[in-house]
Amino acid sequence: MRTQITSSYRSAAEAIAHNNVAAFPTETVYGLGANAFVPDAVKKIFIAKGRPSDNPLIVHIGSVDQISSVISSMPHYAEKFIQEFFPGPLTLVLPKNKKISSLVTAGLSTVGVRIPKHTLAQKFLNECGVPVAAPSANLSGSPSPTTWQAVRSDLNGRIPCILKGNPSRVGVESTVVDCTGSRPVILRAGGVTLEQLRGIISSTRLQKHQAAIPKSPGLKYRHYSPLAYVFIVSGVSETVPMKSSAYIGTQSVQRNTFGMKKICRNQAEYARSLFHFFRECDAKKIQTIYCEQVSEDGIGLALMDRIRKAAVQ
Ligand code: TXA
Ligand code: MG
Repeated sequence: MRTQITSSYRSAAEAIAHNNVAAFPTETVYGLGANAFVPDAVKKIFIAKGRPSDNPLIVHIGSVDQISSVISSMPHYAEKFIQEFFPGPLTLVLPKNKKISSLVTAGLSTVGVRIPKHTLAQKFLNECGVPVAAPSANLSGSPSPTTWQAVRSDLNGRIPCILKGNPSRVGVESTVVDCTGSRPVILRAGGVTLEQLRGIISSTRLQKHQAAIPKSPGLKYRHYSPLAYVFIVSGVSETVPMKSSAYIGTQSVQRNTFGMKKICRNQAEYARSLFHFFRECDAKKIQTIYCEQVSEDGIGLALMDRIRKAAVQ
């Protein structure tokens, strides 16, 4: 299959209209979309990514008025999140309606819904006119793509279309919040922080990942991993600087003996750079990546979650 790389959101929406898949940019990471109402289209996502079908997909819409086309009910507190954080890097898990294919939700009675805060993504989604189911546009298991080139390197020849945009601004995926219980539960930390959510609903809590049956099935799979081994360090003194090792963090490094290094100004830049850095390291055949541990507040919570998952081999 030839992969068309285009800047035209209309061309990308045409692929969706033909029940094909198309990759598109968002502020978190690039997504791989298909019409959420058409099971045969959604099936193509799982095939292209090599993704297990018991891992549900997030449904993306272009504007708030489309939300009633995917859900069946909404608790009062979810409306507050929508007012505050939509569009944005937040996914709300809500009771689904019948039109959403059970292939999208992996048989669950709930659906994850999100409106990206990204002009080109919104134009594309509004042009599609249907809810677009989309996981991150990487091969299953590898780091999520934050550039169109990363999508191409994973999926060239496997998908018909990539909508080309700028590098993703947030760089880690959306926060997934279960809104089906009496209080909101964060299933996956992400671009909207725990503190921000608690600022709106103070009873918001974090799901403990030790649960035997994860509520978010995607959590049980290996994720975000580069080919290199990832180690979490509290500082440069814990590293072995060599041409075959790499370092990413916020503390500066004196001697430049690493094969790759990225010093970030703050946690937001660290989050934005992480997945891209992993991919650059793999391209340079780096064998060991040292990631500096940061405090788990603000975006640091999502950042450390992704680093920890990458460090599990
Ligand atoms: O930022 C993002 O969320 C990106 C962009 C493309 O929007 N998408 C993304 O999708 O990261 P994916 O498929 O890589 O991750 C979706 C996560 C998985 O952990 C999945 O298990 C969870 O959301 N999820 C989706 N629907 C769910 C549901 N109904 N109940 C519980 N968890 C759900
Ligand atoms: Mg993913």
